[in-house]
Amino acid sequence: MADRTASQSVPTWDPRSAEVQADQIKAYDALRRRCPVAHSDFLHSSLLCHADVVCVLRDPATFSSQASSHLNVPNGMDPPQHTAWRRLIEPYFDAQALATFEPGCRTIVRELVDSLPDSAELEWMDFARDCTMRMLCAFMGWPDTLHEPLRDWVRKNHAATLAQDRAAMADIAFEFDAHIRTQLALRRADGLAGTDVTTRLARERIDCRPLSDAEIVSIVRNWTVGELSTMAACVGILARYLASHPELLASLRADPAGLPAAIDEILRMDAPLIANRRVVREPVEIGGARFEPGDRLSLLWASANRDEAVFGDPDEFRPERDPSLNLLYGAGIHVCPGAPLARLQLRIVMEALLAQVRSLEIVPGKAPVRALYPTGGYSSLPLRIERE
Ligand code: HEM
Repeated sequence: MADRTASQSVPTWDPRSAEVQADQIKAYDALRRRCPVAHSDFLHSSLLCHADVVCVLRDPATFSSQASSHLNVPNGMDPPQHTAWRRLIEPYFDAQALATFEPGCRTIVRELVDSLPDSAELEWMDFARDCTMRMLCAFMGWPDTLHEPLRDWVRKNHAATLAQDRAAMADIAFEFDAHIRTQLALRRADGLAGTDVTTRLARERIDCRPLSDAEIVSIVRNWTVGELSTMAACVGILARYLASHPELLASLRADPAGLPAAIDEILRMDAPLIANRRVVREPVEIGGARFEPGDRLSLLWASANRDEAVFGDPDEFRPERDPSLNLLYGAGIHVCPGAPLARLQLRIVMEALLAQVRSLEIVPGKAPVRALYPTGGYSSLPLRIERE
């Protein structure tokens, strides 16, 4: 359905244009300064301003998350169905679950950081992807033998995303589902005797019935495929920022207590996750534009979190800002349930890095390359590392 406008016309933009491909964040800044809503074939009507995105997040009855006919648990659901699934999922990320996971996660990250070269150049995104994939396998209770197939999967997914090859991306997503189904089958053959996250999910019940395989695969896909690239983007963005702000690197080394707020603030400025979708259910006006039922919207986190009306200079690093304004993990009923896990993993990676690395430098003549939508952060980040 075509989008209509009320008090102003909605300009169009092309997420695949050279300008956006060169630097998404700058391109979204320029777009937001021209208009609060912009239209593209790819992202439909994108809301660029913080206040409009918050309005949508607070009103799930008008702005539905059921943007696709595919089962998507719980991302693509509305209440009351969404409420029951959130109740099932949230305990997997509570304080007790994270305390159980933390020691193993620290060991994995320490070993990886130990193996980084000294006074040498490396492709930081290789480290970021590998580190994220290993932490994820450990969280799910998946064996080390899956590392190589998943590493290969991440490479293929990255190449298909770069090429914007939608057919290849769909095939590759299907391939990941096969890994999940194999893990489920192995646990069922073992009588679901274990205690790992995947076994717990296979034992879950909802509305007094067991979960179907399709439901478990959808949940796991959202925790794994959905998050591998976002988490790797975070590890890239954080290293890139510290490489260009050595004074911050030094002060966080001296006082790592400042890390949690610093991490959230750096990721506010440079979004690891670009956008999420909604469908309009009731006639509504937002951002000066009129929408009818069936119209499609995207919430551009990468723009809303840099809105001058809320943050002043969007590039000013101010970790003491009101955290409730930061939309890094969304807000409202769909707020990221995995945020405590993501924050723990990022803190562990940065603590291990700061403990061992004295400086990070961009390699002269090898500029970082920005990732293309839908991925945030960098596709290539050559860094030189000086260890302690
Ligand atoms: C830094 C990393 C992450 C960022 C920036 C992030 C960001 C977000 C955002 C903005 C949303 C809201 C989407 C919306 O309103 O439509 C969301 C939802 C979600 N996230 Fe995350 N996320 C991260 C990591 C994770 C992790 C590690 C997991 C699980 C292991 C996870 C699982 C989910 C799920 C299942 C939802 C859907 C929640 C719902 O619809 O109720 N995320 N995330």
